[in-house]
Amino acid sequence: MKKPIIAGNWKMNNTIAQTKALLTELIPLVKDEKKTEVVVCVPYTNIATAAELIKGTNIHLGAENVHWAEKGAFTGEISADMLVELGVEYVIIGHSERRQYFGETDETVNMRVKTAIAKGLKPIICVGESLELREKNRYKTFLKKQTVAALKDVTAEELDNVVIAYEPIWAIGTGKTATAEDANETIKIIRNTVAKLYDRKVANKLRIQYGGSMNAKNAHELMEQKQIDGGLIGGASLKAVDFSIVVKH
Ligand code: PGA
Repeated sequence: MKKPIIAGNWKMNNTIAQTKALLTELIPLVKDEKKTEVVVCVPYTNIATAAELIKGTNIHLGAENVHWAEKGAFTGEISADMLVELGVEYVIIGHSERRQYFGETDETVNMRVKTAIAKGLKPIICVGESLELREKNRYKTFLKKQTVAALKDVTAEELDNVVIAYEPIWAIGTGKTATAEDANETIKIIRNTVAKLYDRKVANKLRIQYGGSMNAKNAHELMEQKQIDGGLIGGASLKAVDFSIVVKH
């Protein structure tokens, strides 16, 4: 049985002081949760603080990006070794905000994924279409292409430690959620793509999250869908009570 995974994506939010306050409130709220894996993906500057606070709890630690190179002249970037040293387990790769504002491409996503895996980090790979592609009914081809590109040269064994997050761009931070049925159907397309790349068994094992305005109110309905194995939560992960409700859905 695969374990559902609910991951908070804090984005560029929370100072160290705010990190301490939020996690101190969150830890007791989710401490008895056993059926769902709980992850918080935090800004780089908060990783050490978060690692210390969640030690010995059921909360897992994630970062929001990682560079593909081992080390070197990449001013402003962070390497996988730096994250591993701090106890980071998961890393978000290819979030639509990175693709939209920071020049992330399918190719650099794949490079980051391969480095993350090689270093023992578990990538949460984000894919998702724009409103325009959705309305023109071109999203299926687009998602297949994004998925194939992200997983290039990733082996079936390595896929055990990979999570995919389907995040329709038009649903992120907008309060517009994909309907549970739409999210389910679209994730099925992604899963079928993975089945074609590997095989059905591997595809069925893969955890695929939904992300985009998932919150305390709609988490239950989304999580009830057969294809949805978790959520990547932005806004609602910044409030301990809301996030804990999503975790418990
Ligand atoms: P949201 O963000 O929950 O605020 O829509 C999700 C995400 O971008 O990961």
